[in-house]
Amino acid sequence: MRINKYLSGCGIDSRRKCEQLVLDGRVRVNGKKVTELSTDVKDDDSVEVDGRYVGLSHRKVYVMLNKPKGCVCTVSDEKGRKTVLDYVKIKDRIFPVGRLDYDTEGLLLLTNDGELSNKLTHPKNMVKKVYSVRVEGEPTDAELKRLRGGVEYNGEKYGAAQVSVVGVDDGNARLEITVTEGKNHEIKNMIESLGRRVLFLKRTGLGGLKLGGLSRGEWRYLSARELDMLKSL
Ligand code: URA
Repeated sequence: MRINKYLSGCGIDSRRKCEQLVLDGRVRVNGKKVTELSTDVKDDDSVEVDGRYVGLSHRKVYVMLNKPKGCVCTVSDEKGRKTVLDYVKIKDRIFPVGRLDYDTEGLLLLTNDGELSNKLTHPKNMVKKVYSVRVEGEPTDAELKRLRGGVEYNGEKYGAAQVSVVGVDDGNARLEITVTEGKNHEIKNMIESLGRRVLFLKRTGLGGLKLGGLSRGEWRYLSARELDMLKSL
């Protein structure tokens, strides 16, 4: 099995992140550092990441967290900031599926299932992400139309989005925006392209999963039904 697939299957991180671990020289197979992505691993090989042995776990774990603001979506942070794993204290080595910004709240999936993570984050699969967005001011009909048709910001194109106005508080609009691309800072950049700012951002849905009544910082395991739904996407 390819080294990145093996590591991802061990619940270390997504396949792409595991490739980086290899390139960074943090992986050893049978005691020897490997930096080639083409490295194959056999069942009886011993594999270490940062000096710790890893092994394929058979138990797959799927967790939904209501990520609060003020933590990063990584398994460890070089700047010592709080990570999402500070909220989910379980023995299994899980990693976040995709990213929410430091100051974004809401639905985050964590798992040790590299296959499902790849499936949910690969742009070609166009998995729906639903956001509740508070925007500075009230976007005009023309601005909403631009968002629905796709916008460009700093040379990056953002595809068509479903946008509805949920309400207005203190002169600032609350929008529900559904996107399928999953680009970095996607919602903020889409709103910036209108010359406006995002005041508050929360993800409420992912691939049919709904955040529901989970409080900030609270987590739960996915139900079998939710998992079947994600797998059938
Ligand atoms: N779009 C953003 O701008 N930030 C997020 O965290 C998620 C989507």
